[in-house]
Amino acid sequence: NERTEHPAERGQGGELHQTPRGDTPRMTTAQGTPVSDDQNSLKAGARGPTLMEDLHFREKMFHFDHERIPERVVHARGYGAHGYLEVTDAIPELTSAGLFQKEGNRVPAFVRFSTVAGSKGSPDLARDVRGFAVKLYTEDGNWDIVGNNIPVFFIQDAMKFPDLIHSVKPEPDRGFPQAQSAHDNFWDFVSLMPEAMNMVMWVMSDRAIPRSLRFMEGFGVHTFRFVNAEGEGTFVKFHWKPKLGMQSVVWDEAVTLNGADPDFHRRDLWNAIQSGDFPEWELGVQVFDDAFADTFEFDVLDATKLIPEEQVPVRIIGRLVLDRVVDNFFAETEQVAFCTQNIVPGIDFTDDPLLQGRNFSYLDTQTKRLGGPNFTHIPINAPKCPFHHFQQDGHMAMHNPKGRANYEPNSWSQGGPRAAPKQGFQSIAERVQGDKRRVRSETFADHYSQARQFYRSQTGVEQGHIANALVFELSKVEVPGIRERVVSHLLNIDDGLAQDVAEGLGLWTMPKAADPARTPIDLPVS
Ligand code: HEM
Repeated sequence: NERTEHPAERGQGGELHQTPRGDTPRMTTAQGTPVSDDQNSLKAGARGPTLMEDLHFREKMFHFDHERIPERVVHARGYGAHGYLEVTDAIPELTSAGLFQKEGNRVPAFVRFSTVAGSKGSPDLARDVRGFAVKLYTEDGNWDIVGNNIPVFFIQDAMKFPDLIHSVKPEPDRGFPQAQSAHDNFWDFVSLMPEAMNMVMWVMSDRAIPRSLRFMEGFGVHTFRFVNAEGEGTFVKFHWKPKLGMQSVVWDEAVTLNGADPDFHRRDLWNAIQSGDFPEWELGVQVFDDAFADTFEFDVLDATKLIPEEQVPVRIIGRLVLDRVVDNFFAETEQVAFCTQNIVPGIDFTDDPLLQGRNFSYLDTQTKRLGGPNFTHIPINAPKCPFHHFQQDGHMAMHNPKGRANYEPNSWSQGGPRAAPKQGFQSIAERVQGDKRRVRSETFADHYSQARQFYRSQTGVEQGHIANALVFELSKVEVPGIRERVVSHLLNIDDGLAQDVAEGLGLWTMPKAADPARTPIDLPVS
């Protein structure tokens, strides 16, 4: 912005005020009433009390008092940008999604990157999972891929999500620690939850301290469905692969950066986009059918597992480019509402119990966070395609049904929108049956194989970083029994790693390996 000289005028008391000139707008109240003085309240006499009738003062103060909304219950700290997704390889044989019917199709996109555990003001380089949420404004409605930069998750069932998040947030009696992993409660929880061990390996790896948001991979994590025009379904996993490659910092750099510039990641993204160095990711898919899914030694509905790329290669079908920063951080980045439930015809859910729970959670929390059921009326959340429905009223309603009809069926010639059985969203016709039960499928039982595969896929240097991270984080845990319990799991992952961590922690005796058959294990610690 160029600096301009503003003309000044003397106010009633002789003091100087900046005044409008040329195309500088004149200041008004929120009701549009022109303002004569924005700096001094209306008082009775020279030194008397402020008058209640000062409409401008009251409005200004009232609005300021209500500026804050609740921060997200998770992923509170985030940074977003606009761009587009372009299809580079059409896949009509796999999905009827309009977007993927033709190479070269482009749709606008909004992406928000985030950390999970910290509050809105926490530092960017915390050791944590990064959110990688993408909203695609397609011609058939908004499609959100609400992913992370790590391809697996801590838990298998949404029922445990509140416990997981309580355990990483500050402890309720003391209000600290803020950090995710240097944390008795976190380590207590995950050590009682062997299904978390694969994710724990990833979170202790360099992936959890990315050099920049531009150097991160992204994953949809869950297995989703593609459905083609014939109604045939395949399984699909979504991947984002950064054009710049993947890079991380080392722990000492992360700590230094957090102190020197807690906004390091958001500043980096802003500067890159503003200087025309637009970050870009490839959109990749792993596609496999039901018969192939049955050949895996794990369950494709289990979000603590990934599909090895050696078994199902990633096919690149698009490119995501971020080329525009937001006009307003609050209006866009803070008010954007991603939801796993936002899908379009040609995409569908699977019965992954984590995904099923997420489909409820996002809409529910956003209704509270954004003040009611009409948050889709906020421009960043509104579809960019035509939309028509009979939803009406509620707080802040901006789009009520037009005309007389707000119900159906109705007899009016201008009776409003009608559902289109053939073009509308169809759930895949999948056979579902079974006795109601809470016990998880036996196919979800192996918690260590992929943790081992991940650890062993790392270079020696990277393995050293994982061991160091575990020693550093666990050395902050006050209760020795919790440290031992984590090591008892590491013994099921890799003996050498368990040994390094036990030595680093100064454990006198090696605990017994955790019994994989008992979930959760129940060693008393205090
Ligand atoms: C944000 C719930 C698992 C990725 C959120 C929010 C909630 C939530 C309540 C805040 C939303 C808002 O206020 O707008 C859950 C539940 C989960 C779960 C109940 C499991 C049962 C996951 C998983 C991933 C993920 C597995 C990654 C695949 C995200 C992202 C955001 C988010 C990226 C931030 C979206 C944004 O930038 O606004 N989640 N989550 N979550 N979640 Fe989850």
